Amino acid sequence: MSERGERLILCGRDNKRLHAAAQNLAARNNVFLLAADVAKPDFPKKFAALMSQHKLQRLDCVIHNAAINHMGTLAQTKLENAENTFRVNTYSVLHVTSATEPYLSAAGDPRFILVSSLMKYFPMPGRAVYAASKAAAEQFLLAWKLELKARQSPIRVQIFRPAGIETDFHHNTTTDGEAPKSDISRMSAARVARYLADFTQQNRREMAPGYMNKLVAFVARHFPGVTRRILLRRYKKHHRSA
Ligand SMILES: NC(=O)c1ccc[n+]([C@@H]2O[C@H](COP(=O)([O-])OP(=O)(O)OC[C@H]3O[C@@H](n4cnc5c(N)ncnc54)[C@H](OP(=O)(O)O)[C@@H]3O)[C@@H](O)[C@H]2O)c1
Repeated sequence: MSERGERLILCGRDNKRLHAAAQNLAARNNVFLLAADVAKPDFPKKFAALMSQHKLQRLDCVIHNAAINHMGTLAQTKLENAENTFRVNTYSVLHVTSATEPYLSAAGDPRFILVSSLMKYFPMPGRAVYAASKAAAEQFLLAWKLELKARQSPIRVQIFRPAGIETDFHHNTTTDGEAPKSDISRMSAARVARYLADFTQQNRREMAPGYMNKLVAFVARHFPGVTRRILLRRYKKHHRSA
């Protein structure tokens, strides 16, 4: 997007990683960095400070991508890890929507995109906390969407649901147990990012990137019993081989 002359705000907790990401972008001068934690209630204040520092007045698109993983059965799950997962994956939606809504409202055709997960359709055994945190984030946004509509706000709310992405997501969080990875139709991060970039130009309400993910979403939606049987078989096999 920065190649098209658009200004880009990158947010993450790690300043070094943000600088490294910005270095990889063609139009580095159009990129602003915000080292902040979207799970913390002071996020809107930090975001407003960045906007004011750079005299930015509107946002055309917000992509809420930040999330952490959680693995472990309910019996294994430590409350503090479950709470942290909900803080990052779900409560962050409160902080990011309230931080960005005033600036989105000032744009012509603004959109707010949540990167959710196909797991919204099939909570996997051993991934209950993660699946619930993503489903709850989506419900927050569906309610917000109606609030926006009632206020005749121009903001579109869109949901992007990948399955397996080749990143360190499964290893970079403290977690409570082991579970089979979502290896259905694994894609490179670059490929998923291309689908996401296309999605920012479309008016569709939701997208599962790639043919295979679309098929999985369709089966999970319309044949939940079949999906549950497949998941259970996979889970049992994983435990036999572990
Ligand atoms: N990987 C998969 O298999 C998979 C499958 C389906 C859906 N997804 C979804 O895709 C999205 C991206 O995941 P990924 O695979 O790219 O994971 P990732 O490589 O771990 O990236 C997560 C990103 O979120 C940022 N982040 C995490 N916690 C944050 C916080 N509290 N405040 C601000 N930024 C935070 C991280 O930056 P810092 O650590 O620097 O803060 C990092 O840039 C997530 O929403 C995930 O749920 C992933």
